[in-house]
Amino acid sequence: MSDIEKRAITRRGFLKAAGATAASTVVESAHAITKDLRDSANGPAPLGPGAVPFVLHVNGVPHSISIEPRMTLAEALRDTLGLTGTKVVCDRGSCSACTVWVDKVPTLACMTLAIDVGMRNITTIEGIGNADHLHPVQAAFVKHDALQCGFCTPGMVMSCAALLERNPNPSLDDVKHAISGNLCRCGTYPKVFAATLEVAQDRKALSRPVSTSNGKDA
Ligand code: FES
Ligand code: FES
Repeated sequence: MSDIEKRAITRRGFLKAAGATAASTVVESAHAITKDLRDSANGPAPLGPGAVPFVLHVNGVPHSISIEPRMTLAEALRDTLGLTGTKVVCDRGSCSACTVWVDKVPTLACMTLAIDVGMRNITTIEGIGNADHLHPVQAAFVKHDALQCGFCTPGMVMSCAALLERNPNPSLDDVKHAISGNLCRCGTYPKVFAATLEVAQDRKALSRPVSTSNGKDA
């Protein structure tokens, strides 16, 4: 074998060896990336389908419950915790009867999985008032006769009360917008508007400085 042939073989051998090393490095990297992708795609270990232990924070109280991951927040509140003030009417996100607050944001309980709420705070109609101490919006609903069958009423009250929390001085249009998703088959809307605006007016009057009889601020 000539020197030229030996050098050629050596060069060919080197290239083959280098190619094999590079190929195995690429394959190992690909395996590592695939594993990483698989791990990140899998995320945390799946829960269910059976019941799993869970803590639901409702109206300031942590409740240790056992629920199936497929359970909606409305079902957990009503069937597991017995908080039946939250009504389920359409059960498909089109009427807002099931409105509760999640961290003070009006949320459809029939369209939310209980397990997705995590550590956030849920407020239901039971959490804002009761028969002895009505929330001002509830009291105004009674005064203005803003309910008939009552199926929409808890969700309607939660939407109106949430509006007043974020906007203490709403216009009529603001109230209409706030309850635009709340369907009332009994047609109580004008009375709901009046009740909500009156609560806002009353609160504004209470926050004003008291005037003396001569019209000057005390
Ligand atoms: S019951 Fe939830 S939107 Fe109708
Ligand atoms: S009061 Fe009957 S649906 Fe609203």
